[in-house]
Amino acid sequence: MRQFIVVGQDAPTTDEFSLDALPNAGRMDLLARCVTASLLLSHGIREDVRTFLVLADAFTVRFEGREVRRLNPDERSTAALVRTALAEREEAIGHIPVETSPGVSLSRVGFETTLETAAKDGTVCQLHEDGEPANGCEPPADPVFVLSDHQNLGEEYVAVLDGYRQQQVTLGPERLHADQAITVAHNWLDTDGFEVY
Ligand SMILES: C[S@@+](CC[C@H](N)C(=O)[O-])C[C@H]1O[C@@H](n2cnc3c(N)ncnc32)[C@H](O)[C@@H]1O
Repeated sequence: MRQFIVVGQDAPTTDEFSLDALPNAGRMDLLARCVTASLLLSHGIREDVRTFLVLADAFTVRFEGREVRRLNPDERSTAALVRTALAEREEAIGHIPVETSPGVSLSRVGFETTLETAAKDGTVCQLHEDGEPANGCEPPADPVFVLSDHQNLGEEYVAVLDGYRQQQVTLGPERLHADQAITVAHNWLDTDGFEVY
């Protein structure tokens, strides 16, 4: 299982955002691209992937590769799945997730609880431009990749991550967009560490 946790630090926590102005909605355009980069292949879905979007440390939307339906490559329809999830935020009580469309669920939890849950099933690996070079280390069997959005991960998130991080890996010398980093991370695993093509 490959898990991705994408931290949307300025992401909306209500459904009151326009699908016509996704960059203004806490960079929902980028967050939506992270979802599709993690879950979609050209003509298929990566069933062994689970992706979490942490929204302003208040809510988390989870996408299950094995179950998700109606996930398309465009940002707008993916953002619509997030918006539909947030429309049901009052149904998310305590830490119990509410399924808002097939394979998509919303829970009232922030980064730490999401990370704690994901870490039970894998190795927590922060993707960062400063880290151990990916081609010099073994890809974890069950990675839990942690990425920030368009900005540096805030110190409150870093403090939490410090308690869970098992690896910090760089995918190259350039600072990538988070969705680009997800694509390269998949390639790292798909090729068994850039070895098998
Ligand atoms: C725009 S970058 C933000 C970078 C920022 N310095 C930070 O503190 O995370 C968004 C995310 O893409 C990932 N990323 C960008 N470039 C990367 C690289 N060269 N290697 C690994 N991950 C990278 C990181 O997870 C990063 O959090």
